[in-house]
Order: sequence, then C-alpha cells, then structure tokens
Amino acid sequence: PGPGWSVDADVVVIGSGVAGLTVALRCAAGGARVAVVTKARPDDGSTRWAQGGIAAALGEGDTPRQHLDDTLVAGAGLCDEEAVRTLVTEGPDAVRRLVATGARFDTDATTGEILLTREGGHHRRRIAHAGGDATGAEISRALVAAVREAGIRIIEHALVLDLLKDAGGRAAGVLLHVMGEGQHDGVGAVRAGAVVLATGGMGQVFSATTNPSVSTGDGVALALRAGAEVSDLEFVQFHPTVLWLGPDAEGQQPLVSEAVRGEGAHLVDADGVRFMLGQHELAELAPRDIVAKAITRRMQETGADHMYLDARHFGAAMWAERFPTILAACRAHGIDPVTGPIPVAPAAHYASGGVRTDLYGRTTVPGLYACGEVACTGVHGANRLASNSLLEGLVFAERIAADIGGAPGPAGEGVPAARTGRLVPPETRFAVQRVMTAGAGVLRSRQSLERAAAELARIEEEAADKAVEPGTDAWEATNLLLVARVLVAAALFREETRGSHWREDRPDRDDAAWRRHVLVTLRPDRT
Ligand code: SIN
Repeated sequence: PGPGWSVDADVVVIGSGVAGLTVALRCAAGGARVAVVTKARPDDGSTRWAQGGIAAALGEGDTPRQHLDDTLVAGAGLCDEEAVRTLVTEGPDAVRRLVATGARFDTDATTGEILLTREGGHHRRRIAHAGGDATGAEISRALVAAVREAGIRIIEHALVLDLLKDAGGRAAGVLLHVMGEGQHDGVGAVRAGAVVLATGGMGQVFSATTNPSVSTGDGVALALRAGAEVSDLEFVQFHPTVLWLGPDAEGQQPLVSEAVRGEGAHLVDADGVRFMLGQHELAELAPRDIVAKAITRRMQETGADHMYLDARHFGAAMWAERFPTILAACRAHGIDPVTGPIPVAPAAHYASGGVRTDLYGRTTVPGLYACGEVACTGVHGANRLASNSLLEGLVFAERIAADIGGAPGPAGEGVPAARTGRLVPPETRFAVQRVMTAGAGVLRSRQSLERAAAELARIEEEAADKAVEPGTDAWEATNLLLVARVLVAAALFREETRGSHWREDRPDRDDAAWRRHVLVTLRPDRT
C-alpha cells in the first residue's frame, strides 16, 4: 500500500517504553523534531509490567565491576564484554537522570537513599524498585509525563509496517498503518533521517508469556524485511516464576517477581521439598536459566505441571507493602500468598537476542537504530541477568540520542524496503503459538525443532492462498510467523545447550564450536 498521508520529522521513534521515550526525550532536548509512534497507547508495552526493578551499582560497596562479573556469568560466555562494561559503568548515572526526569523510586525514610533488593544471579543488593513491585509502571508514568510536557508528537494506534529507504539504502522513515484515531488514519508515512526501533519483545510467539499482547516481534520482523542483521534469536528467556493458572491458560500471565525470592521466598515441590538447595551456590537466587531448568526438571520428575513459591513467612504487612501488585494478582485468581504457597511455572519472558547493534545502537542499515528488547547490543549473551533490561533500554537510548545529535539531516525520498503485501490471517497467531510452545519452548531437541520448522512452513504455505484484510491483527500474525521461523532456524543451528537455549539432544555447552553468535539476514526476495 502507498502512503495516504505523510509527516516530517528529524527522528522517528517506534515504541513507547523506557527505551523509546528516553531516546525521544534526549533527542528533543538536543533540538531534534521527534515523532514517537506507538502501536496502542503510550503505556501499553512491556515497560509498564516490569516488577522487580532496574539494576545498577548504586549501593555502598557495590561497583560496576561486580555488576559486570554477574552479568557475564549469567550470559554464559556470549556477552560482548565492551557492551556490558558500557552498561554497568554508565548505568548508575543513567538511573540518576531517570530520577531527575521524574521517576520516584522507593527510598529509605531516614536517609533518602534508594532502597535496593536482590534478584537471581546478583551477588549484591542492586535492584532499585518503585511502588514496591510496580517499578515499570512508575518509570512509564514518569517518561510519558515528561514526553507530553516536552510537547513531543505521539502517533498512537499506529502499527509500523516497513522501513522506508532512500536510493543510497539509508533509512528515510517508516510506513505506518493507523487504526482509526486522531488526525491520521489508514496507511501513511513518517519521513525522518533517523529511525529508532524500540518496539520491545516477541513473547507472544509462545502460548504463555509474561509479555503483553502487543509484544509480537514487529521490530525484528521489520528489520529482517529491511535487510538488517539479527542475532541470538535462539536465546529466549523463560521466567522461572510465573503464576500458574492451569494447563490451558494462554496469553499474558502474571509475573511473580524474582524480587520475591530476593527477599527470601523458597521454591518447593508439592511435598514442600526445597529443590534448589544443593543445585547452585545461590540456591533460589541462581541465574534465571538455572532456576527455570531446575523447575522444569522437577516437574518432569514428579509429573507435576507446576511448582510452588512459598513466602508465607513474609506475613501480611510485608506482602501488602513490598509486593502489592503480586498480592493483588494472586488474590484475583483465588490464591492467598500470606496463607498458602503460590503455584508457579516458567513462561516466555524476554528475547535476549534481536536486531544487532553496535555500542551506539546502530544497526547494519545506515540510519536505522535499535534499543531496548528489540535490540541485541550484546549485553545479555545467552541469558539476561535479572533487571538489566530496563537499564539497557535507558543506557543505550541515551547513546543513540548522542550519536544522532541535534539533527540527523533531512530524509531522502524513501520507498518501502520490502514488499509488504503477503499478510497471513489473524488466527495464524494461535497456530504459531501452539507450534512454538510444543517445539521450541524451555526444552528443545533437533526432533522437536524440525517438527516446529515443518509445521511453520506448512502454516505459511496454507496462508498464502487466503485473502486477508489488512489490519493490526493480520500484521501481528505475519510478524509472529516470520520471527518464529527465524527463531526456530537459529535454535536448530546452535547444536549445544547454553544459557536459556536448552537442547535435550545436545545437553552440554560446547565452547570450542559454539562460543559465537548466530546471525541472520533475510534474502531480499523473501518478505
Ligand atoms: C522480575 O521482576 O522478576 C523481572 C525482572 C526482569 O525480568 O528483569
């Protein structure tokens, strides 16, 4: 489809979580004309759902070096050390600037210092939190308010379709589909000399996830269609403790933050046995992949479909003050963590890979940047350390704004970087989710992945004959199918177990052959 309307800007930011809004604010402060494009409302993405917090070496005795060490251990040999050093060194000041922007973290009533908790893989208390367990909601509130205050243009209900490129192959804006609100409607374009992808993750590629329904891999799909390089897609992190709502629960599931374990909750099986003891020196606070694997193994051994998190000893007052969001979510589902253990199971949580960038968020397509979950900056390696994601969004957003400077120059005349015609029907989403959960979930093998690849190919073939009405649901399903196919191909290719990629047929980590990244680009004729 050709654009029916057009907006000019210096910088267009796709996405309105911590990463996108931080780029927008910093670019606008530097004098650039910024347009933020968001698929739903500005606070509908993943940032708002983050509970535990944001990690930074802010506490007494803590140092960026120790934060770096914990991050490298969690990343299982695949972190880019320079990217991690950048993250942990610039992190503390980036958090202070976030406070200056208006985010209110929980502080000690007497000293006024930011309170810090622990989470999996951290040897120190270094997780700042807000509203107890509503950190993301507070960050989102503060950033949305600041963006509105700065008068930055936000285009809502706008699904990004494809990148526009000029004759030299440089990003020149994006093609959008706006769904019936505000001054724009239908397919249009924002033309800009710099395009920043901050579209979040792809958790909706699985049936059960902590991600909201908007996390459909749109940024990775756009980048692939635009010819950008994507890296490490096989490393999908499954959060160990997601509220278990029954065997048929689908879609977004309530998270039970790592911070609950950080404050002393125990993981137990149906007989009350603490099965993390003896598995790792940090027991329940081992890195996330280790805890998710231990839970999955215990479920297999005992034939159960969930385990339990026991934090009855916190008592009613601590539950209400420290974890009000989780308490409310449990009670809404008839579970009282004050009097009984919480049923939990792992669910898809975070894409450690994404659109490959350098230390300034630059992708392999000139003028196209990526930050936040959509990006692969190299800081997470094979497994992200808890609460490093909000920090990554913040730090690399600021670096992108610094790289863009005040004005990236006018956009050239852009044309879509890909053919955007081949939509699949909306119901494809559920077929993809079922295939991915069965074949490419916490446990994978060559056999399960080959089956998933074949079923995804069949789904795509069958969809090719159908007439599909363009709309958000169809676009999301199309993007999910594309990222699922690439994810499965990457998971098949990596013949080892490492971090969050667990191959039952290749149970060992193989540093000699696999201490390297799986990079993917799409052939130009593939849309
Ligand atoms: C949590 O609160 O457990 C989530 C933190 C994260 O995913 O980084």
